[in-house]
Amino acid sequence: MSKKEKVAVVALDARSLPRAQALALRLNTAVSCDSSAVSGMVLEVSQDRLALRDTTQPRTRALTIDAAKRRYAPAGKDLLARALGRQCQSIIDATAGFGSDTFDFVRRGKTVVAIERVEVAAIMLEAAASACCPDHETGTLQVVCGDAIEKISSLKTVDVIFLDPMFPDRDRHTAKPRKAQQFLRRLAGEDADGATLLQVARLHARGRVIVKRPRHAQPLGGKPDIVHQGKAVRYDVYLARGAA
Ligand SMILES: C[S@@+](CC[C@H](N)C(=O)[O-])C[C@H]1O[C@@H](n2cnc3c(N)ncnc32)[C@H](O)[C@@H]1O
Repeated sequence: MSKKEKVAVVALDARSLPRAQALALRLNTAVSCDSSAVSGMVLEVSQDRLALRDTTQPRTRALTIDAAKRRYAPAGKDLLARALGRQCQSIIDATAGFGSDTFDFVRRGKTVVAIERVEVAAIMLEAAASACCPDHETGTLQVVCGDAIEKISSLKTVDVIFLDPMFPDRDRHTAKPRKAQQFLRRLAGEDADGATLLQVARLHARGRVIVKRPRHAQPLGGKPDIVHQGKAVRYDVYLARGAA
């Protein structure tokens, strides 16, 4: 298991200091007004955004969540739409990360509950959710911070539970993962309990559980009922009993 990194908080201007202090309290970490006084992973707090920066890589840009960023699937090749199925209205995204899949679901018009256990990622998701859907507490997107294995059973049942746990480092393909994935790996370590999460999800989903996997990875559980195979990723679909 890789070591999980801590994140410091920096207020980029004086007016952002109270919010930075509140977030530092939540993260149980240090807060500073001086960027040069902190090192490693830093959550930058300013009036208009939250950004995560790796100060050991000074030439690289900070990571922000862009809820409006669209993905384009070639016509007729939208594997995710096929995996979700025509009946899907509601989704629990139980491994939300920085929300790339979450906001894709929201843009598809789904009611989404996003669960993430890395607190700084959950904080950034909450901020992006309130910026993109102000009524996210009751509307199309709700963010839950915590472990999905514990939280799922207390949520309303949904059509689809979506899982995209981190893939073990050693089996990864040679291509360098995107910055968001690199950061999550440093903050979360490996998701060694993915199989348990799948079991819990299968008990709770009304229609199906979808597991996103690298193309050549072993399935997370037993043999899936349906597989949608893409060039780089695969969607393994486990139908709920009675949904086949
Ligand atoms: C590969 S990333 C997900 C990326 C995400 N689908 C996206 O589109 O950006 C996996 C994430 O799932 C989270 N995760 C894994 N198991 C979890 C669990 N049991 N409860 C909550 N979050 C979990 C990890 O902390 C990590 O942030």
